[in-house]
Amino acid sequence: MNSTQKIALVTGGSRGLGRNSAIALSRKGMDVIITYHSRKEEAEKVVKEIENNGRKAAALQLDTGDVSSFDAFVSQLAGVLNEKWNREQFDILVNNAGFGIHASVAETTEEQFDSLMNVHFKGVFFLSQKLFPRIADNGRVVNISTGLTRFVIEGFGAYAAMKGAIEILTKYMAKEWGKRGIRVNVVAPGAIATDFGGGAVRDNDEMRDFIGSHTALGRVGEADDIGGVIASLCTDEMGWVNAQRLEASGGQSL
Ligand SMILES: NC(=O)c1ccc[n+]([C@@H]2O[C@H](COP(=O)([O-])OP(=O)(O)OC[C@H]3O[C@@H](n4cnc5c(N)ncnc54)[C@H](OP(=O)(O)O)[C@@H]3O)[C@@H](O)[C@H]2O)c1
Repeated sequence: MNSTQKIALVTGGSRGLGRNSAIALSRKGMDVIITYHSRKEEAEKVVKEIENNGRKAAALQLDTGDVSSFDAFVSQLAGVLNEKWNREQFDILVNNAGFGIHASVAETTEEQFDSLMNVHFKGVFFLSQKLFPRIADNGRVVNISTGLTRFVIEGFGAYAAMKGAIEILTKYMAKEWGKRGIRVNVVAPGAIATDFGGGAVRDNDEMRDFIGSHTALGRVGEADDIGGVIASLCTDEMGWVNAQRLEASGGQSL
């Protein structure tokens, strides 16, 4: 990567895997801009924690499912980059923001489908497109998929199909953006105990036991199992890894 001080942008950095990734990136010496959707206070706590790690940070509001807001977001981002870093570009994009809906293929409504589509596929596609000129040459993009593209747990058909689309998109971004030295990879976490899906993996003992018994390492994942993976992929040591799907699931459903 070009400039000395790296800046990462993590969508959905107020909670869960995005929060954990943002903090892990700061521990690796990167400054971090996070976005939040509704939880400004949580986002401000993450900013404080990153600053306590000795790095600069900022939080911006963004609905990653609302493509019509992206131009205004990019302008806001440009303002923050200029004010806080005296730069026009950043180095690392982590497309993380998202939510889960549990519904069988037979029962998924068009409204549920569209909300998932807007955040998990259309939003990632067009946000990345709009941010492309703002990502420095030799930068990194990490997209977030799910183990559910490899194995099947009933009730995630629409969600997993859109994450599958992200895995294909990752390869196209890597091929096209490699001309500028930008590496694009996709991390596929297994079931992780966060607020995701109403906190089911964290709070539902039956589900925890089920997943633990189908995982080689014998338990569900925690956010701490993921942030470091994402941050590591953004280091120079991992610079020859490109266009890859890296599953971090403790060996779920082998
Ligand atoms: N947890 C798992 O088991 C698991 C497994 C595989 C993949 N994933 C993927 O990992 C990513 C993060 O999940 P998580 O477990 O960290 O979930 P989480 O704890 O529920 O956190 C979700 C984050 O996304 C943000 N967000 C939600 N909807 C948004 C929207 N429309 N626009 C912008 N931001 C939005 C939230 O912002 P606010 O806090 O401001 O609302 C929050 O920061 C998602 O892409 C998910 O699909 C999760």
